[in-house]
Amino acid sequence: MAKSKTMFFCQECGGESVRWMGKCPHCGAWNSLVEEKIHEEGPAAKPGRVSLPAAKAQPITRVAAEKNRRWLLGLPELDQVLGGGLVPGSSVLLGGEPGIGKSTLLLQAAQAMSAHGKVLYISGEESAEQIRLRAERLQALSDQVYLLAQTDIDAALSEVESIRPSLLIIDSVQAVFSGQIQSAPGSVSQVRAVAAAAIAQARELGCAVMLIGHVTKEGMLAGPRVLEHMVDTVLYFEGERYNAFRLLRAVKNRFGSTNEVGVFQMTERGLSPLLSPSAYFLSQREGGSPGSAVCCLMQGARPLLMEIQALTAKSGFGNPRRLAAGYDYNRLMIILAVLERKLGLSLGDKDVYVNVAGGMRVDDPAADLAVAAAIVSSALDRPIEDKVLLLGEIGLLGELRHVSQSARRLKEALSFGFKLAVCPEQEEVPAGLRRLVAKDVAQALSLLGLK
Ligand code: TYD
Ligand code: MG
Repeated sequence: MAKSKTMFFCQECGGESVRWMGKCPHCGAWNSLVEEKIHEEGPAAKPGRVSLPAAKAQPITRVAAEKNRRWLLGLPELDQVLGGGLVPGSSVLLGGEPGIGKSTLLLQAAQAMSAHGKVLYISGEESAEQIRLRAERLQALSDQVYLLAQTDIDAALSEVESIRPSLLIIDSVQAVFSGQIQSAPGSVSQVRAVAAAAIAQARELGCAVMLIGHVTKEGMLAGPRVLEHMVDTVLYFEGERYNAFRLLRAVKNRFGSTNEVGVFQMTERGLSPLLSPSAYFLSQREGGSPGSAVCCLMQGARPLLMEIQALTAKSGFGNPRRLAAGYDYNRLMIILAVLERKLGLSLGDKDVYVNVAGGMRVDDPAADLAVAAAIVSSALDRPIEDKVLLLGEIGLLGELRHVSQSARRLKEALSFGFKLAVCPEQEEVPAGLRRLVAKDVAQALSLLGLK
């Protein structure tokens, strides 16, 4: 008889525990363990186990090298992030917040993919009619794209067997469930079982599989994180829902580099590549306003010019507020402490708000100097000259540290008409760009007339 037992799963990392705990013993997340009933029918039913035929070991030189075949998905940005197209028979997980455009992206890809064979789009969220309407709007209709609105994975996979697609899309792993697992759809064991069944089936039939998974900002809600080790490629789609800019990033890729990013714009006709992201980010910038500074960030191998905005205002309460949107809060606190100690700038009675314009999230330390300069510029109500690029990581001693790939960053600034860069000592500065070298943050700010 099938045994049923209770386990607790971390919704953040998928870690297991036999009893409930406030803090996940695997990843340290708080309040993330959720009770799930597991219905075991023997070892074969264990989710996450993909059985492969027994094989003999052989020298690596004797292994037949598979031809590097790739299917292009019609969206060059997507193909590039995949490492030059989709590898037949591979599995891809596409994660992102709800409403960011995952279904749109894969529907557009499905149409291009139909040049290479059939595509089966299994939707657990929308009806086939809704998807058709969307495909019409995207001008992505094709006879080779099959739609199936189904939430039972076993029923869906039997359809896979009869249609024999080259690409299987499951939208989303949280909406589809397996009848062999008792817990609710979207729970960790369900998500794992659904993904394992789809991947095993796809491997058997030699078709590629793309799984859509929702993640919230914190990676919670039965995060597809728990699937990362089961698939060949993990892509994350990022951006703000109310902003047209979208970034597609590879977090893991067995068939290519994770250094590539795809930059898209959501339009009324779906996703289109954003050819000049720097121009997009700087387009709404008003030069000459205090509290605005420009830095250049690397997204993968691509330089992006980005505006950092800061506002300091008199604090109404005892404890001043510090708020960072798109920038690391702890890093902001460090920069404020450095400004206070090294420049004697007192912000104890002021609220400080920092925002990365355009809804981007910045984790590149090269933005430190721009953040510091924007804050000081706002505090002194003195603007930073237009067309000045600020680059540099700030250390705890107030020193300005080198940033990686500075040559590419400076070149991007030059091509957007920047005349001057304030940065630590750099190797290559392109002709046409004037460089002011600063040892530390105090020197950099005095070069900018902010001291
Ligand atoms: P969707 O692909 O449904 O997001 P997800 O699958 O990640 O939840 O798309 C989300 C939003 O994109 C939707 O709210 C409307 C917008 N959108 C456009 O702006 N233009 C379009 O052509 C399409 C199809 C969607
Ligand atoms: Mg969707």
